[in-house]
Amino acid sequence: MAETHIESLLKEQRIFPPSPEFSKHAHIHSLEVYDSITKRAAEDPEGYWADIAAELDWFEPWKKVLEWDSPFAKWFVGGKTNIAFNCIDRHLSSATKNKVAILWEGEPGDVRALSYQMLHYEVCRFANVLKSLGIEKGDRATIYMGMVPELAIAMLACARIGVTHNVVFGGFSAEALRDRINDSKSRVLITADGAYRRGAIVPLKKNADEALSGAPSIERVIVYKRTGEPVNMAPPRDLWWHDQVAKMAGVCPAERLEAEHPVFMLYTSGTTGKPKGVVHATGGYMTNVYITTKWVFDLKDEDTFWCSADVGWVTGHSYIVYGPLLNGATSVMYEGAPNYPEPDRFWSIIEKFKVNIFYTAPTAIRSFIKWGDLWPAKHDLSSLRLLGTVGEPINPEAWMWYHKNIGRDRCPIVDTWWQTETGAIMISPIPGALPTKPGSATRPLPGVVVDVVDRQGKSVGTNQGGFLVIKRPWPSMLRTIYGDPERYKKQYWSEIPGMYFTGDGARCDEDGYLWIMGRIDDVINVSGHRIGTMEVESSLVSHPTVAEAAVVGRPDELKGQGIVAFVTLAAGHQAAPALKEELKGHVAKTIGGFAKPDEIRFTDALPKTRSGKIMRRLLRDLASGQATVGDTTTLEDFSVLTKLREEEE
Ligand code: WTA
Repeated sequence: MAETHIESLLKEQRIFPPSPEFSKHAHIHSLEVYDSITKRAAEDPEGYWADIAAELDWFEPWKKVLEWDSPFAKWFVGGKTNIAFNCIDRHLSSATKNKVAILWEGEPGDVRALSYQMLHYEVCRFANVLKSLGIEKGDRATIYMGMVPELAIAMLACARIGVTHNVVFGGFSAEALRDRINDSKSRVLITADGAYRRGAIVPLKKNADEALSGAPSIERVIVYKRTGEPVNMAPPRDLWWHDQVAKMAGVCPAERLEAEHPVFMLYTSGTTGKPKGVVHATGGYMTNVYITTKWVFDLKDEDTFWCSADVGWVTGHSYIVYGPLLNGATSVMYEGAPNYPEPDRFWSIIEKFKVNIFYTAPTAIRSFIKWGDLWPAKHDLSSLRLLGTVGEPINPEAWMWYHKNIGRDRCPIVDTWWQTETGAIMISPIPGALPTKPGSATRPLPGVVVDVVDRQGKSVGTNQGGFLVIKRPWPSMLRTIYGDPERYKKQYWSEIPGMYFTGDGARCDEDGYLWIMGRIDDVINVSGHRIGTMEVESSLVSHPTVAEAAVVGRPDELKGQGIVAFVTLAAGHQAAPALKEELKGHVAKTIGGFAKPDEIRFTDALPKTRSGKIMRRLLRDLASGQATVGDTTTLEDFSVLTKLREEEE
C-alpha cells in the first residue's frame, strides 16, 4: 500500500434534488421507497439478492444463495442458467422480439439496427461456428475487435455455449494482446481486419498476426471483415467470419451452466506485476448487472440507452452489452471517435437516435468543455432525461457543465463508482430518489456495504479521508484472478484483513455521501483507463538503453492524470531529446498509445529508501511541480533529490 496521507480538501455545497416530474415516473420514486429497499437489503441480504435473481430465468433453481469461504464466494450455488439466454431468448416470447437490441453507428456513418430476434439468429450462428471448430464449454476465447455489433455477438455466442470470453481492448498493441492470450490460454482468437478510428484504420489483424507469433495456444483465428483492407490470412488457421456463419444454422441451444461458471475474464492493471485476469461468474454477475442497469439508469421499456464506453473495458461489458440486453432495452453502440468528423459527433447521434439516457466518462466531458459549448448547442438534445458518468472522480465544475450544456438543467446525473473487479455499479445515486451533489457518487446501492477506514480497518470519522472498502460479498464480485488465487487474496483481501480493498481513497460526509478521491495505490487513471505504473516501467526497462525507470501520475486537466517517467540510462547511453521520443514510442508499441508517457525525465539516480524501495511520493511531488512536504527521513541519499530538482531545468 502506498505511503499516502489522505487529506480531503474538496468541499462542495450545491445540492440537486430530483425533479418531481422525474421522480413521478421513476422505478424508485422516493427516499422512503429507497430507504425501505436499503433496509430490507441490510437486514436480509441473501433474501434481497435472491429476489432480484428470481426476476431472471433459471433452468434449475439454486440451493444456496451464498457460500462464503472468505475471501472466496459462490453465489446461487446449484442453480443453472445462461446469461446469453437471459439477454436474448427471454425476450423472444413477447413483443420485445421485434425491438431493436443493438442500434449501431459506424464511424463512416453507416447504421445497423439488430432486433432481439435477429440478434438471436446471429448469436446462434456464431456459436455454431465455434462449436464446429471444436471450441467448447470450459475453453477460453480472446476477442480483439473494434466497436462493431459482431463484438457483442461474439461475446454472447461464447456465453451461450459456456466459453469464457476475454475481450482485449482494440487500442492495445500486439505485445499486450499476446500477453493476454497467453495468460488466458485461449484456443481461439476472434478479431477483424481493422476498425475505423478518427478517419484512419486500426490494423487489428496485422497486430493479431504479430501477437500470434508467440501465442501457441491459439488454434483458430476468426476474422470479421469490417474495412475490406487486404490482410494476411494463414490457412488453415485463419477463417473469415462471413464464410463460416454462412454455413451455420440459426439455432443453437443455450448451455445449462452452473451459476458459478466463469462467464468472462478481463485484464486490468494492478499495483504490482503483470495485468490480472479478473474472473466473473455467470449467475451473480447477471443478477447484479441486471438490477443496477434498471435502477441506476431508471431504465424503461421505451428508452434508448447509450453508454459511450468501449466494450474492451468493463463499462462496455456491463452497460453496453449485458445490462441493457438483460433488461430488453435498446443499446446504442458507436464505433469511432467523439470528434470525428467534427466535435459534435456524440450530440448528433443523440439527436438522430433520440437517445434518452447517456452514460460517459469525466475525461470525455472535459474534452467537450475544451471543444466549446457551441457544439452541443447546435443540437436538439431534448430526448435526454438522464445522464451518467463513470471511470474517475468528476470535478464539480465538469459536473455543472454537463448538467447545463447536455442535461439543459433538466436531467439528473448519476455519478457511478465501481471497478472491473466489482462487475457492476456499487455506489451511485438512484436518480428518482436521492438528491445529488456535484462530485459525489452519493451512497452505496442497496445490498452494498462500504466503509471508509484506516489501515487497521477502523472506520474513520465523518469527513475524514481513508481507504474505501467493501465489507460484505456481493453477487458480481470478482471470483479470483485467473490462475492466481493467491494474488487475489493478497491484492484484495489482505491489505485490510477481512475487507475488500478497492485501492481508492474516499471520505464520507455528514449526509453519508461518499466522495471518491482517486487511487491510493500505484495505478494511474489516464482518461479513465487504469494503467499500472509497473507495466509502464517494465516496458521502459525492456528498452536496451534504460537501466531503471519509475513512473508516476501527475494531475492533467484533460486526462485526469498524465504519466511522467523518471529514467536512468544504462552505461554508454546519452540523454538526448530523440531518445525521449523513442522511449515514448516504445511504450506505445509494447502497451498501446493510451499508456504513452507525457513526459520523460532522465536522471542519474532515483530516490530510494534504505531497503531499496523507490520513493514514489517524492517523485509524484516533483512531477506535479509541488514542493516536497512529506517525510524524507527514510531517503537513503538525500543528494538524489536535490539533483532531481536541479535537473528540472
Ligand atoms: C475509478 C471502471 C471516482 C476508481 C468502471 C476505480 C471512479 C477505478 C469512479 C476503476 C467514479 C470509477 N468516481 N472514481 N464514479 N468510477 N472510478 O476498473 O479509481 O476501469 O477504482 O472500472 O476507476 O476502474 P476500472
